[in-house]
Amino acid sequence: MNENQDVILQVKNISKRFVSKGVCVRAVTNVSFDVCKGETIGIVGESGCGKTTLGRCIVRAIEANEGQVLYRAKDGQTYDLLKLDKREMRKVRKEIQMIFQDPYSSLDPRMTVIDIIAEPIKANFPKMPKKEREQMVMDIAAKVGLNTTYLKRYPHAFSGGQRQRIGTARALILKPQVIVCDEAVSALDVSIQAQIINLLKELQREMELTYIFISHDLSVVEHISDKVGVMYLGQLVEFAETEALFSKPMHPYTEALLSAVPVADPDVQMQRIPLEGEIPNPANPPSGCYFHERCRYCQQRCVEEQPSLRQINGRQVACHFAEELDLRGFDYEKA
Ligand SMILES: Nc1ncnc2c1ncn2[C@@H]1O[C@H](COP(=O)(O)OP(=O)(O)OP(=O)(O)O)[C@@H](O)[C@H]1O
Ligand code: SF4
Ligand SMILES: [Mg+2]
Repeated sequence: MNENQDVILQVKNISKRFVSKGVCVRAVTNVSFDVCKGETIGIVGESGCGKTTLGRCIVRAIEANEGQVLYRAKDGQTYDLLKLDKREMRKVRKEIQMIFQDPYSSLDPRMTVIDIIAEPIKANFPKMPKKEREQMVMDIAAKVGLNTTYLKRYPHAFSGGQRQRIGTARALILKPQVIVCDEAVSALDVSIQAQIINLLKELQREMELTYIFISHDLSVVEHISDKVGVMYLGQLVEFAETEALFSKPMHPYTEALLSAVPVADPDVQMQRIPLEGEIPNPANPPSGCYFHERCRYCQQRCVEEQPSLRQINGRQVACHFAEELDLRGFDYEKA
């Protein structure tokens, strides 16, 4: 529990299971963390570890099986988002938005850009005069760096980077407090990624936004995040301040992930820590520590007993031997 008064969102014990053809997949299990106003929380982990499912549960695009998402709204009240009825959720939804991975498929090709950006206003303020609505669209489009003379065109006329700006404008138009960005820059070229990330950072300062930034790209996450949560097989295994996590991870999975990132500088030699074996099947997770089959520090206790997420030196770590291991970190920005 964070003592900071400025906590805007508390994710508490969120679990989500998918059942298909009689098989139960534990996509997210008992994930908890606090988010302070104005900060960026990065969520990382290999494909299939539950990042998107967690993000979707937080904004309630899908229903979690268990847990709470306590949100301090603009009206000063704290709501458990997962308990709100449809009408109440609609009111709060304006304040919590999501930006999606694919700027190609997430924009309706049959709608003009002006209509795409205006859609949330139409849904929430149907009586707003057209002129006022269009002015709001123009203002937000200019803010995200879109050329406002082209807004009557369709999305196919825009590049990937411009489409991501359109998606960002749509997410921002109702002046939200929190935005969940799911792989928001992953589909873009590296140079365009940098532009969008800088834009997100500028908007954050200007509009006091709070981000949950989901990505499999560790160097992007290091660049943008204040704190980082590392997920493995649906569980949070480490949660820490970005600098602390990158310079000295405390969970063996974090260490292995960091060592796997390619380094651009040929003078920097990184010794990769191989992640042996496949990611286990979330429908049939291993006994004890879910990471034990791939962990080079595994001991008998790890096979038998699941480690809980513990507070250690201001961070949270789920490893029996976190205090004893002396793990290697890395700072990509300085490399
Ligand atoms: N609608 C669904 N029905 C059944 N299983 C699902 C569904 N959505 C996700 N899953 C499963 O839940 C687990 C977590 O998936 P999720 O998409 O959240 O992972 P992710 O970390 O976002 O992966 P990626 O990096 O590839 O986007 C996976 O095993 C996935 O197959
Ligand atoms: S609990 Fe054991 S297997 Fe799991 S990460 Fe720690 S050392 Fe590795
Ligand atoms: Mg995903």
